Amino acid sequence: MKRPFPSLLHSILLALLFLYPAQGSDPNCNSEDHGSTLQVMHIYSPCSPFRPSKSLSWEETVLDMAAKDEARLQYLSSLVAKKSVVPIASGRQIIQSPTYIVRAKIGTPPQTLLMAMDNSNDAAWIPCAGCVGCSSSVFSSTKSTTYKTLGCQAAQCKQVPNPTCAGAGAGAGCSFNLTYGSSSIAANLSQDTITLAMDAIPNYSFGCIQKLTGSSVPAQGLLGLGRGPLSLLSQTQNLYQSTFSYCLPNFKSLNFSGSLRLGPVGQPKRIKTTPLLKNPRRSSLYYVNMVAVRVGRKIVDIPPSALAFNPTTGAGTIFDSGTVFTRLVAPAYIAVRDEFRRRIKGATVSSLGGFDTCYSVPIVAPTITFMFTGMNVTLPVDNILIHSTAGSITCLAMAAAPDNVNSVLNVIANMQQQNHRVLFDVPNSRLGVAREPWSITGLAMAAAPDNVNSVLNVIANMQQQNHRVLFDVPNSRLGVAREPCT
Ligand SMILES: *[C@@H]1O[C@H](CO)[C@@H](O)[C@H](O)[C@H]1NC(C)=O
Ligand SMILES: *[C@@H]1O[C@H](CO)[C@@H](O)[C@H](O)[C@H]1NC(C)=O
Ligand SMILES: *[C@@H]1O[C@H](CO)[C@@H](O)[C@H](O)[C@H]1NC(C)=O
Ligand SMILES: *[C@@H]1O[C@H](CO)[C@@H](O)[C@H](O)[C@H]1NC(C)=O
Ligand SMILES: *[C@@H]1O[C@H](CO)[C@@H](O)[C@H](O)[C@H]1NC(C)=O
Repeated sequence: MKRPFPSLLHSILLALLFLYPAQGSDPNCNSEDHGSTLQVMHIYSPCSPFRPSKSLSWEETVLDMAAKDEARLQYLSSLVAKKSVVPIASGRQIIQSPTYIVRAKIGTPPQTLLMAMDNSNDAAWIPCAGCVGCSSSVFSSTKSTTYKTLGCQAAQCKQVPNPTCAGAGAGAGCSFNLTYGSSSIAANLSQDTITLAMDAIPNYSFGCIQKLTGSSVPAQGLLGLGRGPLSLLSQTQNLYQSTFSYCLPNFKSLNFSGSLRLGPVGQPKRIKTTPLLKNPRRSSLYYVNMVAVRVGRKIVDIPPSALAFNPTTGAGTIFDSGTVFTRLVAPAYIAVRDEFRRRIKGATVSSLGGFDTCYSVPIVAPTITFMFTGMNVTLPVDNILIHSTAGSITCLAMAAAPDNVNSVLNVIANMQQQNHRVLFDVPNSRLGVAREPWSITGLAMAAAPDNVNSVLNVIANMQQQNHRVLFDVPNSRLGVAREPCT
């Protein structure tokens, strides 16, 4: 008897594929955040006001994200070097556009803003009414009963860059100016209640933006998750104890959201971790010690200096939520790439934009493992490869750090973190990674055994993971909604 494999597999796949668009066509953009967990959306998500007005082709999207990465890396390098770096992309606007946004409520009564989430920044900036040069929605401080500006005498005024006193005497307000990417900001140091999910945080200090030039600053504000002095973590010590985790949704499933879980409650207990390293010169960045990289089962030959942590030069490895594609310093990237290419024998290598390892034939890619002190993270191919929607081009989704900036930093970027929960546990000085996968690439399915009555298609629990399955008996229906990253 012939195995019923193809038709059975086909019907399971059809069933699964059929269920997605029905859900995907109705993303719930106004769902409330619960507890201390915020929904995380990609900026190109249908719920995001920042998505491009015309839909971009796959190549355009990838090249657009890679171009934004250049600006991001410059920004990170400038942090490390503690000096501003001349923009590289002359003629092109440097949009330091973040990849992920969360919903925050400011003031009393609360006003909602979609703030960019950035784990490599301490600052909170909010565009305020009356701001010259701000674009999108702004916070109207006069409508909030809990808003106040901080005076020059406030302790927080010593923690902002270039503070100035506006006005005279005891009532003088604390203002500050700074540059960010290609933008400059003038802001008043202010306080108000910020509500994140169900948590109201009174007297939260932030920069109320009064004047803005350039387009590098996220339109509805920035929520920094760094660990420096004036950061959200420092201001919510008692509430969140400097602990948070996120799961970033895959940018290919734009209709799905991830989550940002603040505080120690509900964090994964079983999770691999590696020590967090502290760079006193750059307190906001989350450094870890990457010791090696494995391609397939082979540990590639990387000079130790390319991975070593050095607080003075800023060298080492960070986890960053704002860069899309992982960048390794050149000697590390070349070793990884060469081994990757060696494993894909016979196929011609081409390039696409900044990606130098692309194929126009189907390939079987090796896994890539980032090896940290005490923690190996093996990435599934979903986190390693980008595929064009037509399936005609596949690229290794990593690149060498740009060599025209201070290239000492290895950046583990968000594409490589997607569908993983990444835990930042500052009190215990550790960073954890757990897979929260939905992956169809492994095709963990099999034909029904043909020695039993093989007429039943069983959708097993692996295929239901990260989906909400609704059993609605009164209405005689079963629903499936995809819930990755919960
Ligand atoms: C997302 O939802 C929109 C409608 O809101 C739909 O047109 C689109 O195809 C969906 N995209 C995906 C990737 O499911
Ligand atoms: C910001 O500070 C300036 C100078 O003190 C003041 O004129 C302005 O009203 C302040 N804006 C807000 C929103 O507090
Ligand atoms: C800060 O920026 C404001 C507005 O552009 C400007 O009036 C002020 O002189 C600047 N202050 C400093 C110290 O650069
Ligand atoms: C917030 O500030 C107000 C006035 O400055 C003060 O009365 C209140 O106690 C503060 N609340 C907290 C929780 O610190
Ligand atoms: C990581 O993998 C290597 C083998 O490639 C192994 O020797 C090492 O013990 C692993 N580390 C951890 C923490 O599992």
